[in-house]
Amino acid sequence: MDKLVIQGGRPLLGDIKTSGAKNAALPILAATLLSSETHYFENLPALTDVKTMEKLLCQLGAKINQEGTLHAVQVKQIDLCEAPYDLVKTMRASILVLGPLLAKYGEARVSLPGGCAIGARPVNLHLDALKAMGAEIGIAHGMIYAKARRLKGARIVFDVPTVTGTENVMMAATIADGKTEIHNAACEPEVVDLACFLNHCGARITGFGSPQMTIEGTPSLPNGGTYCVMPDRIEAGTLMLAAAVTGGEVMIRQYRGGHLASLIETLREMGVKVQEEKGGVRVRGGPVRPVNVTTAPYPGFPTDIQAQIMTLMSLSGGISTVTETIFENRFNHVAELNRMGADIHLEGNQAIIRGVLALSGAKVMASDLRASASLVLAGLVAQGTTEISRIYHLDRGYERLEEKLVALGASIRRVSSPL
Ligand code: EPU
Repeated sequence: MDKLVIQGGRPLLGDIKTSGAKNAALPILAATLLSSETHYFENLPALTDVKTMEKLLCQLGAKINQEGTLHAVQVKQIDLCEAPYDLVKTMRASILVLGPLLAKYGEARVSLPGGCAIGARPVNLHLDALKAMGAEIGIAHGMIYAKARRLKGARIVFDVPTVTGTENVMMAATIADGKTEIHNAACEPEVVDLACFLNHCGARITGFGSPQMTIEGTPSLPNGGTYCVMPDRIEAGTLMLAAAVTGGEVMIRQYRGGHLASLIETLREMGVKVQEEKGGVRVRGGPVRPVNVTTAPYPGFPTDIQAQIMTLMSLSGGISTVTETIFENRFNHVAELNRMGADIHLEGNQAIIRGVLALSGAKVMASDLRASASLVLAGLVAQGTTEISRIYHLDRGYERLEEKLVALGASIRRVSSPL
């Protein structure tokens, strides 16, 4: 198992590009199951999760070739309509093949994702919506069994705006009979990128990016071609926070303006200088003021950035709070940040962060993807050496993060250590 060894205390300086967005790449790859054409993808990030999704698609019957950074994906027929436990347990986003398999092939068996480090994460809303579209769904032996001769358009009203739930229904509805309306749909930019990809393939989706989406079913998605996955806004946000926490100055390129408005507003409130420029965003760190943040669906403050901003709050001149409203257990980073000298305590779904003068390097353990990123940021600014173990979590969602940080002047080494 690899670990990262970080010598803290170097301000980050320079220019860096973000990679393609994990949470756009995964549903877009799953959506290739809906079409028989060849799709060429640019800007797919080299991440463990993307490799897992490609492995799953290949097991189902896809042909995938990678030439340089271009990935060619074609699903002419499937050999199997099952996402097995072994893959789903390593990546919950495997649930994204459920809608496409059911819509195109009339059948799907997907291992029921369990809870994960950040919460129970049920998929009841995905299943209820597909049932409303005419699917018969049962659960037995830890598997979801779904069947439908042909899905029919329906009016779906989500209780909460679920991101992958919206994506599953949206994909299934593209080739269902008739019109599907999704009310209280997720508005995240990754949902928009999936809609753009599906429309590029020939789907008829309108209203994406708003809570009311309409999908007019069509018999098939006839267009292949090249599609470039959107840049990763969560990676961009993490790099912005790395610049801020180290008191450096970094220009982050391949960033789509507007995607991080809530983070930028919060950083400015804290006193960080943030300037959106053509082709990127420039961040300059310095002493920071405390702030209160509540996570919310897009365009609210992203749950995927609360762990990272907590590191910056730990070094502010006062008391900050983070209220987590999306997941019930997304504070795994708190105990580890406290081991590095932070002063954070939890009250229900709220973290209360008292600013300290400095963090000190320590041996810490990554527990989930974004918690790992918060520990990397802490290591960058801490006095002395920080060793972060279990960084396979980081490799699931950040492409070459340590290389990028080293290019900006950080001192980070990846070392392999025995289990
Ligand atoms: N929920 C239900 N029932 C459902 C589905 C969701 O109760 O059937 C609840 C969840 O328990 C949660 C809320 O609805 O409380 C929102 O969950 P959502 O379904 O939106 O999350 P997700 O689709 O499983 C995606 C991202 C996550 C990101 C969340 C929230 C992907 C592959 N994953 O998860 O990304 O945190 O949306 O924005 O898109 C990450 O990248 O680190 C990550 C965890």
